[in-house]
Amino acid sequence: MNEPAIGTPPSHPSRLPLPARVLVTGVAGFIGSHVAARLLDEGVEVLGLDDLNPYYDPALKRARLARLVDRPGFRFAHADLADAPAIDALFATFRPGAVVHLGAQVGVRYSLVDPNAYVRANLVGFANVAEACRHHPVSHLLFASSSSVYGANTTQPFAEAHAVDHPVSLYAATKRANELHAHAYAERFGLPSTGMRFFTVYGPWSRPDMAVWGFTEALLAGRPIPLYNHGEMRRDLTYVADVVEAVVRLLPRAPVAGGAYTGPHRSAAPFRVVNVGRGAPVGLLDIVHTLEALFERTAALELLPLQPGDVVETFADVSELLAVTGYRPSTPLAEGLAAFAAWWRAER
Ligand SMILES: NC(=O)c1ccc[n+]([C@@H]2O[C@H](COP(=O)([O-])OP(=O)(O)OC[C@H]3O[C@@H](n4cnc5c(N)ncnc54)[C@H](O)[C@@H]3O)[C@@H](O)[C@H]2O)c1
Repeated sequence: MNEPAIGTPPSHPSRLPLPARVLVTGVAGFIGSHVAARLLDEGVEVLGLDDLNPYYDPALKRARLARLVDRPGFRFAHADLADAPAIDALFATFRPGAVVHLGAQVGVRYSLVDPNAYVRANLVGFANVAEACRHHPVSHLLFASSSSVYGANTTQPFAEAHAVDHPVSLYAATKRANELHAHAYAERFGLPSTGMRFFTVYGPWSRPDMAVWGFTEALLAGRPIPLYNHGEMRRDLTYVADVVEAVVRLLPRAPVAGGAYTGPHRSAAPFRVVNVGRGAPVGLLDIVHTLEALFERTAALELLPLQPGDVVETFADVSELLAVTGYRPSTPLAEGLAAFAAWWRAER
């Protein structure tokens, strides 16, 4: 089957050499599978880790993995991030030069249902990865944080210099905890780390619990599309190939020690957080109308109240990412959704 186009990766003259061996956690996940594929394209040896848990259909995770397993330079480790000895053993044998840590219990709403899943994967799991990085030093721990750390903040666009002390879901609290954990390890053990605050990522091979997927399923089944906060929500949607580009540019650019304290996001430790978004929020109705045009269907809408733990708008200030990497995500919504729709038609 022909691969659908997934957008044109932007070119940048100052791309730096990547580490020879990289551990990618959450490799069977939406973003992890795209990152691993891109690293393999770049000639990097990848150890991909995932526990293939059933939070959503593991068949989808296995299908993403199937596209990686036979590629030269790829190895898969079926392991749980919460299993400290297993994580340490993987570091000891594979000896990664750097780590892209994307494995996590995801989803804002599910964190109200099963908080312990977040404690295990996101807190214990993160602690195990950080400890392994301490004992088997790496050049960079690049990890997924989330735009949800901005929580109840109302100043838009969201910028890294803003204080982020008011998470509105446990998911967000675990992501903020990861950032603080990483800062402490950067300060105490000199572990260079970057927390990437992803803003609603979408594209081919995405997740069934995300809006674009849910809207598409409802649209094609002729069911009403649920729009929370009566559709009055805006999201800074980021195309997955743009996120991957940000990852490969950030990975060789580990932060260095010795900076000045200039706000909540900067200290002398080799640590940074960086927004990874497009900086152009779109309304839920814009998404629906674009999908209607792509699938040539008319949507019925179900207007619902705001859900607990949801934020009304996310809007990324991407100047930090641009300053560090010379790059900002820019795939237009219509182009990214067209690639998603092409994938949906080919694979679903
Ligand atoms: N997709 C987005 O819009 C978005 C936005 C903000 C942040 N993020 C973050 O980006 C990262 C990747 O997200 P995604 O959308 O690809 O989600 P995903 O659920 O598709 O991928 C996460 C992967 O981690 C694996 N995993 C979960 N717990 C594990 C454990 N205990 N041990 C081993 N593997 C485990 C899962 O099986 C899954 O394959 C996550 O850390 C997520 O919090 C994603």
